[in-house]
Amino acid sequence: MSDAIEYQLEGEIAVLKAQNPPVNALGVDIRKGLLSGIERAESEGAKAVLIYGDGRTYFAGADIKEFGKPPQEPWLPELCNRIEASPLVVVSAMHGTALGGGLEVALSSHYRIAVPTAKMGLPEVHLGILPGAGGTQRLPRVAGTEKALEMITTGRHIGAKEALEAGIIDRIAEGEPREIGLVYARELLSAGAGRRAVGEMPAPAAVDFDAIYEATLKKGRGQLSPATCVRAVQAAAEAPSLEEGLKRERELFMELMNSDQRLGLIHAFFSERAVSKLPELKGVEPRQLASIGVIGGGTMGAGIATAALLSGLSVVMLEMSEEAAAAAKGRIAGNLQGALKRGKISEEQFAQLTEEALSLATGYEALSDVDLVIEAVFEEMSVKKEVFGKLDAVCKKGAILASNTSYLDVNEIAAATSRPEDVIGLHFFSPAHVMKLLEVVVADKTALDVVATGFELGKRLKKISVRAGVCDGFIGNRILATYRKAADHMVLDGASPYQIDKALTEFGFAMGPFAVADLAGLDIGWAVRKRKRAEGMDPRDRDSSYADKMCEAGNFGQKTGKGYYVYEAGKRGGTPNPEVSDLIAAERAEQGITPRAFTDEEILNRYMAAMVNEAAKVVGEGIARRPLDVDMTLLFGYGFPRYRGGPLKWADIQGLDKILNNIKSYAEEDAYFWEAAPLLETLVAEGRSFDDLNKENS
Ligand code: 3HC
Ligand code: NAI
Repeated sequence: MSDAIEYQLEGEIAVLKAQNPPVNALGVDIRKGLLSGIERAESEGAKAVLIYGDGRTYFAGADIKEFGKPPQEPWLPELCNRIEASPLVVVSAMHGTALGGGLEVALSSHYRIAVPTAKMGLPEVHLGILPGAGGTQRLPRVAGTEKALEMITTGRHIGAKEALEAGIIDRIAEGEPREIGLVYARELLSAGAGRRAVGEMPAPAAVDFDAIYEATLKKGRGQLSPATCVRAVQAAAEAPSLEEGLKRERELFMELMNSDQRLGLIHAFFSERAVSKLPELKGVEPRQLASIGVIGGGTMGAGIATAALLSGLSVVMLEMSEEAAAAAKGRIAGNLQGALKRGKISEEQFAQLTEEALSLATGYEALSDVDLVIEAVFEEMSVKKEVFGKLDAVCKKGAILASNTSYLDVNEIAAATSRPEDVIGLHFFSPAHVMKLLEVVVADKTALDVVATGFELGKRLKKISVRAGVCDGFIGNRILATYRKAADHMVLDGASPYQIDKALTEFGFAMGPFAVADLAGLDIGWAVRKRKRAEGMDPRDRDSSYADKMCEAGNFGQKTGKGYYVYEAGKRGGTPNPEVSDLIAAERAEQGITPRAFTDEEILNRYMAAMVNEAAKVVGEGIARRPLDVDMTLLFGYGFPRYRGGPLKWADIQGLDKILNNIKSYAEEDAYFWEAAPLLETLVAEGRSFDDLNKENS
């Protein structure tokens, strides 16, 4: 008997306790233990079996670490069939999260009871697969086709109450899973209840599966697993027997298991957790974090303040004048109204957050007692330095001084204070109370416990925090600047911004780069171009001024109703702005460029090659520690499709030699822009991948 399952006979009931912390994943030892536990219970004359999990949860699913490795017996689908086929009365008592294979084990049990706080679901779609241990066949038999389709295609977790109403569980009871399970099993035995196999229940009703398949495919923006789930549930309704339905489920499961999307999504799952684990922070205590100050209540400052308030921190908002402070408060209240509307906070909480937890100020003395200050004023070094000089004069000893700068040198900002060890970059993304990414920018002199506090703040605000080094644009904006340039070059050479946007949304980006520019405001790029020109550009760096002309005419994108696209009030998205094509044509003529046609494939190859190449430079220079840090930055801050794992996971899947060859062929026309990253050359020469680097550094 494996230690992963503890066997105990309690009168007529064999109790199987799972012990595989932290989440009781159904690894091989657990599967072996469950199988031998059922066999032993049958051979020792027990009448019922109770299955439950030790620690914080029932089984949270199959062991994802086993995916892609040779499968070890007993396989989960067979184990589930074996549990269901047992002549004994099998009861599962659930607490914590009964997910994926966990819920499938529960559905193979004959009766299900859960504590009120239990959550359950079939989240396999998020890993690029489908429930592969009978979930697509058994869930619709208890919950009905429509409910099962909704749960399986979205991967949504539901609470115990909803599960009871849907017929997924039989009872809710307060208490420890072992105790409520034993009470229930005894009650079933004394009532003479027999086994009750879900697999033997009638097949669920058929619905218009083709229509649901098409709609799900469209909604998935290129992600295949949700739509494939529809076909598996269809088999539950249409296959002549459970066995046939399970066979179809297995075929579809294997199809997805062998897909690149599964590789991408599993990479995302583990990287999301690995990204904020830094070896140097082990055992480092973060500093106290109860109150924060925010300087500048514009777009970013208001968003940061909103996120901080919602996480329970008190916020002092400092603005330049009473009017600006009142406007900042209005923005914060507007954001919180959104949370109120969605039911995230109550009216009382709204009042408490806006009237008590938030205070407004125009003088720096108000920041003398806060634990951390985040500066979000205009993006100008002289302004930032002035602000940090003032903070240095008033903030208490040990207070952390952070900048939300997008591009500026955090070392130079830190040098404006007498305490550079307390200075750090905390780069949020717009809108800051919505976007999940936080770049924690570590400057040369930043103290370790200040870094730890940056990550602690990220955790409190429910962000994905990524460590970044100092350079122009850190990880994300630096890479963005490069792939955006590749897009600009293609426009000059003949592609239209609309073809580029389309090629990239087809790849899975939520929006293409030109639609994004319209959303962010064309004035941002304009300011960057002006700054670069003022600093002096390399003559080999290709430049253009057609976008400046759009800005000079007052067209800044969505906020002015016109940019690359024309936006009509009340309508989502825009239509191509015909004036842009004329401006581009004039620019090409001026630069003596004869436009040529681009295929969508070439657009994608060039755009991605630029992204991967710059990302490899960012990793090679240590700005990002590991390739996965880049992947998570692009996933959570830049709309990169999660099912492709991130640019460097995508690059591994494509083959790094292929990408390097592309870069070298592009370099024949423009050697300056397409200078291959040394790290990429080394990896190709050594036959290694970015993922090898992740493994070496985790
Ligand atoms: N397999 C292997 N490891 C797992 C795991 C799993 N199914 N689920 C979680 N872990 C690991 C995490 O990687 C993490 O490891 P770390 O400490 O080394 O980083 C540790 O367990 C704790 O996880 P979290 O940090 O995520 O803990 P939380 O308390 O925040 O969340 C959870 C717990 C809700 C269970 C969350 O971990 C989760 O959503 N897990 C995945 C659940 C899932 O997708 N299950 C379906 C699996 S696929 C399947 O069952 C296929 C079947 O149909 C055949
Ligand atoms: P914004 O122009 O919307 O807001 C700036 C605010 O700062 C204004 O309300 C202004 O009154 C106030 N302010 C200016 N100087 C001040 C001073 N000395 N003291 C107090 N308040 C002052 O700008 P936005 O977009 O919020 O950007 C702020 C910072 O965040 C910049 O450094 C920017 O680069 C960065 N950032 C911007 C992102 C974006 O998408 N807008 C994303 C991430 C970072």
